[in-house]
Amino acid sequence: MRMVDIITKKRDGYPLSDKEIAFFIKGYTKGDIPDYQASALAMAILFQGMDKREIATLTHEMEYSGETMDLSKIKGVKIDKHSTGGVGDKTSLVLCPMVCACGAKVAKMSGRGLGHTGGTLDKLESIPGLSITETDEQFIDQVNDIGIAIIGQTSELVPADKKLYALRDVTGTVEAIPLIASSVMSKKLASGTDTILLDVTFGEGAFMKDLESARELATTMVEIGNSLGRNTKAVLSDMNEPLGYAVGNALEVKEAINALHGNGPKDLMELCYTCGSIILEQAGLASSKEEADTMLHKVIEDGRAFQCLVNMVKAQGGDISYLYEPSKWVLSNNIIEVRSDKEGYIKRINALAIGEASMKLGAGRETLDDLIDMSAGIILDKKVGDKVSKGDLLCTIYTNKEDYNELIPDIKEAYEFVSSPVEVHPVVWEVVE
Ligand code: URA
Repeated sequence: MRMVDIITKKRDGYPLSDKEIAFFIKGYTKGDIPDYQASALAMAILFQGMDKREIATLTHEMEYSGETMDLSKIKGVKIDKHSTGGVGDKTSLVLCPMVCACGAKVAKMSGRGLGHTGGTLDKLESIPGLSITETDEQFIDQVNDIGIAIIGQTSELVPADKKLYALRDVTGTVEAIPLIASSVMSKKLASGTDTILLDVTFGEGAFMKDLESARELATTMVEIGNSLGRNTKAVLSDMNEPLGYAVGNALEVKEAINALHGNGPKDLMELCYTCGSIILEQAGLASSKEEADTMLHKVIEDGRAFQCLVNMVKAQGGDISYLYEPSKWVLSNNIIEVRSDKEGYIKRINALAIGEASMKLGAGRETLDDLIDMSAGIILDKKVGDKVSKGDLLCTIYTNKEDYNELIPDIKEAYEFVSSPVEVHPVVWEVVE
């Protein structure tokens, strides 16, 4: 079999056989197939797509490209949640402790941010001392002991995705449904949880730019998960504006702490309650959405959800004093207010533009090796639907860089104003099951 024949076959729009897909994944993981051929195939897949069988085979080959985890030693239903990426998306930091406090076993492997999207691991690492590396045994013990662990994927798990995702990121081939579906689902399947809830984002700040493609991606992933015996559901959530007010690592952790104390932004909490209700039903811990919703509100009100975050941070070596006293986080040297030159109702806050600006302020990576400034980012003061007068505060930027002035016009451009009131749509548009 020759890689060049596989590339030309897909380029010309023909389906690949199971053997060809296996040849590609095995050869690329081992290092026998070079990056330039893998990126040519990724681009051909992006343009020509794949049918259901091809996507299922690709997912399977990726899942077994390395070790898989056996979580059977964890007592109870293991739940996992995965977002396809967004700006200001600190959902896992709030939702996972919430469902843990309701009795779910959260065994979650998260990723890092790249480009304009943030990653849960980076956010967690803004808590001094916290480690996201654990052996399988430590991971299992922690979930058994306190009901929750969020760690990084071990290097043995789905090595094919590690290589392929990094390659796609620099070759303009991230936004392909077969590649996203196989990347997400191979990791979720290999990490061994019983139930999976996918948060498939769409809009300016997401990889899927519209609701239709998000629905197609969600349906593809839900079908793969359910066909392999994992209870899999998805929500389609709006990422046209950043989620919540904070964008940037430590800033987002502080917002998550506030949310766990009952003071979360409306859109973030709506997403957490909707996802939480689905997860509790999936795990058999609630028999209806209403019951689940009541349970979730209760654990926020009585502090048990916050306590789950404290337990997790402590178990992973983090300094919990920051959770009790968020003012301990050192602020950036430069804190600059961005004020509006326009007036009207905010129709749009371009999440991509805000995510990119935040990354350039130091909160994200442009390449995998870049170091993150945990204190950097943006706090929005206004959200879509708000009325703004000239001179009103739009947002505050936090950075240790000195060239921030160049970014201010782009940040102002991210806001679109209209003269009449704007109807604000709920953040969750659909559930796919
Ligand atoms: N998240 C992933 O894990 N993989 C993708 O391809 C896109 C988002």
